[in-house]
Amino acid sequence: MAQDDVFKKIVSHCKEYGFVFPSSDIYDGLAAVYDYGQNGVELKNNIKQYWWQSMVLLHNNIVGIDSSIFMHPTIWKASGHVDAFNDPLIDNRDSKKRYRADVLIEDQLAKYEEKMDKEVAKAAKKFGDSFDEEKFRQTNPRVLANQAKWDELHTRFANAMEASDLQELKKIIEDEGIVCPISGSKNWTDVRQFNLMFSTEMGASSESASKIYLRPETAQGIFVNYLNVQKTGRMKLPFGIAQIGKAFRNEIVARQFVFRMREFEQMEMQFFCQPGTEMEWFNYWKKYRLAWHEALGMGNENYRYHDHEKLAHYANAATDIEFRMPFGFKEVEGIHSRTNFDLSQHEKFSGRQMKYFDPERNENYVPYVVETSIGVDRMFLTVMCHSYTEEQLENGSSRVVLRLPEPLAPVKCAVLPLVNKDGLPEKAQEIVDDLKFHFNTTIEAKDSIGKRYRRQDAIGTPFCVTVDGDSLTDNSVTLRYRDSMEQVRVPIAKLREIIEDRVSITSVLKKLDVK
Ligand code: GAP
Repeated sequence: MAQDDVFKKIVSHCKEYGFVFPSSDIYDGLAAVYDYGQNGVELKNNIKQYWWQSMVLLHNNIVGIDSSIFMHPTIWKASGHVDAFNDPLIDNRDSKKRYRADVLIEDQLAKYEEKMDKEVAKAAKKFGDSFDEEKFRQTNPRVLANQAKWDELHTRFANAMEASDLQELKKIIEDEGIVCPISGSKNWTDVRQFNLMFSTEMGASSESASKIYLRPETAQGIFVNYLNVQKTGRMKLPFGIAQIGKAFRNEIVARQFVFRMREFEQMEMQFFCQPGTEMEWFNYWKKYRLAWHEALGMGNENYRYHDHEKLAHYANAATDIEFRMPFGFKEVEGIHSRTNFDLSQHEKFSGRQMKYFDPERNENYVPYVVETSIGVDRMFLTVMCHSYTEEQLENGSSRVVLRLPEPLAPVKCAVLPLVNKDGLPEKAQEIVDDLKFHFNTTIEAKDSIGKRYRRQDAIGTPFCVTVDGDSLTDNSVTLRYRDSMEQVRVPIAKLREIIEDRVSITSVLKKLDVK
């Protein structure tokens, strides 16, 4: 099936099974804004819990905060967002559609990569085991020609972005013959900058109101609280502050469902350390964050690092963790070494000291910061994309199953009375009343057992428990595993023990080795 079709199916599955709805659905939605439904919110909460516990519980020197969305407007001046949080935009005059110029060029680079990959795949099929990919890439004329085009375009693009040269970006689009995906024409406007922050007014009357912004990242709430936390928590460097919260960006090219939203949620951690130790911590966090993703068991081959060549002026290292989505490898998380830029800027703009007194070195300095920043919604999307599976079964039927990592599943166990009478619903309720204290357990009595299994498969419930007539006398039930569909008879008294360990967040946390 084409990857576009797979993605469309995932989006409609999310709606049909109560994971994600378009915002304001009865008013035909609001572009790039989404609501999470009854199953989506559980999955999202599990992701947040896994992140929070891996940061705050597993690291003695990390604490959390919850700062407000509205902040003093000068914060965004100090952070550089008022002046530089821009996207380069271009319009197509025929379709009247607006695009990010950098994204159009990145898509063009991806086309060259695709062409090279196709040549490699063709040759690999032809030569079988004797195929030497590295040699092929170094010698095949078609691969080399595309590589040369890629290199040239990449260099031009990187230079134009570095210099914020908008004319050059337009020239690249023209020289590459990039067309509007809707109109197919090359009738482009000039490229111009567009600030991504949403603003509103705070105050009782229009005269006294002042312009404030909805935060475009949660990180600044951490920076401006760094001394409050350090002093009241008696924190010693190195230490971290973690936060989960909403952020807002007026994204122009809002595409791909919850991948790029205008209102979204971030999980960010700023790690404050001694100047000179930041690369050591950058490498630690790079490794740790990848391990966090891998521990979920969604296939290590589906992740890769993408080191930034173009660094923001305040950063001295940055990398993305990318995940293989149906529309290619995409950024899920960023790890950035931000030097002492943000704290120094706040020192300058607020007039308050941001220095830390280091008792061991007997000196004052502004700490350096390594940041890890992941979007909850993007993480949600990686999990959905990985888990959505259509299966042909041996008996000729098919099923849609969400192979969610078990600790993230919205419902962990569904208890199903075989028939909705003869004391079975009551027995099933007894089981639920016992298990519900330990993990999310539900009861479902309507429809045939086959249909109920399918519904639970579709929302990713790892365990179904079927209560039948024998259960009333032998106190045992049939336990069905989601992925293998294997069914085993087990005593009711053993259910908690069998299920709890597999579905708890602790079971994934234990795979993370904190040093
Ligand atoms: N404080 C650093 C920062 O905000 P970023 O790379 O702009 O860095 C970090 O964003 C993460 O936030 C991204 O890796 C992505 O997961 C998520 N994110 C950013 N913009 C988003 C959007 N419009 N919709 C959904 N998630 C977004």
